Amino acid sequence: MSLILGIESSCDETAAAVVKDGTQVLSNIVASQDALHQEYGGVVPEIASRAHLERILPVILQAIRKANISIDEIDCIAVGNRPGLIGSLLVGVAAAKSLAWSLGKPLVAVDHVLAHLWAPLLSGETPHYPALGIVVSGGHTSILLLDDPSTATCIGKTIDDAAGEAFDKAASILEMGWPGGRFIDEAAQTGTSIYQLPRPKLKNNKSDFSFSGLKTALLYGVRGNPQRKNGKTVFPNSAASLTLEEKNNWSASFQEAVVDTILRGLSYALSQTGCKNLIAGGGVLANSRLREQLKSVANDKNLQLHVPEVTYCVDNAAMIAGLGWHLFSTSQFADLELTASPRGIAS
Ligand code: KG4
Ligand code: ZN
Repeated sequence: MSLILGIESSCDETAAAVVKDGTQVLSNIVASQDALHQEYGGVVPEIASRAHLERILPVILQAIRKANISIDEIDCIAVGNRPGLIGSLLVGVAAAKSLAWSLGKPLVAVDHVLAHLWAPLLSGETPHYPALGIVVSGGHTSILLLDDPSTATCIGKTIDDAAGEAFDKAASILEMGWPGGRFIDEAAQTGTSIYQLPRPKLKNNKSDFSFSGLKTALLYGVRGNPQRKNGKTVFPNSAASLTLEEKNNWSASFQEAVVDTILRGLSYALSQTGCKNLIAGGGVLANSRLREQLKSVANDKNLQLHVPEVTYCVDNAAMIAGLGWHLFSTSQFADLELTASPRGIAS
């Protein structure tokens, strides 16, 4: 039996968790910074790293307490050290190294994107490898070929915005709040996909994605074509003049275009690799339409599909501790020279 303490600070969630043998979550504490970044409509790196610094130790202590263990019982410390905002990652890495050194415990370094693909195992899923992995989050939209949970090759990714980022920008165009993916999801439930939005086709690698044109099409659809007036770009309309029904229909149309785009890249990767095991993860997997459509693709193509439960889709440290357990069990240790990196396996 092994207990792993996971630490996550790659973006704007300060998180710590204790996981037993890679899959049994004893505690999962997430301190969200949404309220701090809301007024800027996006994560401000400097605010994020300072907030991590204030919260990291209380969050770790809470995770230990909630797990009902003493810190000495931890067998290994796992930290997400890549990819992410460098100032944010450094806070988690420094805390993990200090704990590993002071407690005399081993340390493992976890790729955040791969950790998203461990998330389904936290709810009892048991994927077989090799598998195709798809991570759809605020920072990534990537397709990976996994030989095992920690060995992967990235075979497709977004060439501009990530899908979650596109959802957030769409919600901001529709004046729905930030981070807005879940608001679009909610509004789309009562809307109908009646507006024509593009499904970008990429020539070079059909497993790559692009979402920025879609976002611009939504912007022009909602606000009308921009005009130059007195040296400024102005739009004839704004989201404020939309009825609730129109907002819901725009949400449904946008969501449908994002989901279609994701599924098209994924279907191409599946056809190229012939892979029958599919693992999905990342914040956008909380989206009800994406979950539904992925299940339908899996049924049609006879795939073994593994999707996390909604709690483990968005950033958390249980997935870091889970993949950390795999690294610990296979002796893939880090040392105290460990650094943070803005780039990872998929970026
Ligand atoms: O995985 P995550 O917590 O952070 C990154 O690693 O980037 O993903 C956060 C993203 C945000 O863009 C958020 O709007 C999106 O996941 N998201 C959703 C939903 N819930 C969260 N997007 C669409 N529908 C949802 N229900
Ligand atoms: Zn993430």
